[in-house]
Amino acid sequence: MHIRVFEGSDTEAVIELWNKSGLLRPWNDPQLDILRKQSVGADLFLVCEQGGRIIGTVMGGYDGHRGWMNYLAVDPEHRQGGCGRAIISSLERRLIAVGCPKINLQVRTDNTSVIEFYKRVGYTVDEVSSMGKRLIADSVPGQY
Ligand SMILES: CC(C)(COP(=O)(O)OP(=O)(O)OC[C@H]1O[C@@H](n2cnc3c(N)ncnc32)[C@H](O)[C@@H]1OP(=O)(O)O)[C@@H](O)C(=O)NCCC(=O)NCCS
Repeated sequence: MHIRVFEGSDTEAVIELWNKSGLLRPWNDPQLDILRKQSVGADLFLVCEQGGRIIGTVMGGYDGHRGWMNYLAVDPEHRQGGCGRAIISSLERRLIAVGCPKINLQVRTDNTSVIEFYKRVGYTVDEVSSMGKRLIADSVPGQY
């Protein structure tokens, strides 16, 4: 397993992986999400390669107060093999290196089974409500 920073030529494989992993939603255009990430904090968007194929991703970020992770995915054929833990560890090391004191993440209410995985790799449930407001609509209705 080799973990490295995302490159533009990975785009197609990464979107296919997100699709297989059930992470795509009609209100998020993955191409746009990738393009935006390439212009802000691109060095925290990581992929895990094995045998020349991308088997894992995590899109990390740091806002100067908290680190964040999105788009954590491991290819269904490679799960339970340590890729999820390894790519999160790599992101954590990179966040520590820039002085980030804590990392946050959100889990969709229809994906609560993943909470056990996060607990296994050291995360705890924070007693907070997550809120958001859409600022730019990504108009890809019905695409995924
Ligand atoms: C969550 C996910 C990234 C885990 O990746 P993975 O490569 O299978 O995880 P690892 O093999 O590194 O597992 C690390 C530990 O968690 C455990 N684990 C993995 N998946 C688990 C699950 N679904 N439930 C409980 N424990 C789990 C492993 O057994 C391992 O335990 P141990 O090392 O302490 O013995 C992967 O299941 C996935 O892509 N899921 C779909 C996408 C998703 O839901 N992403 C998160 C959105 S918030």
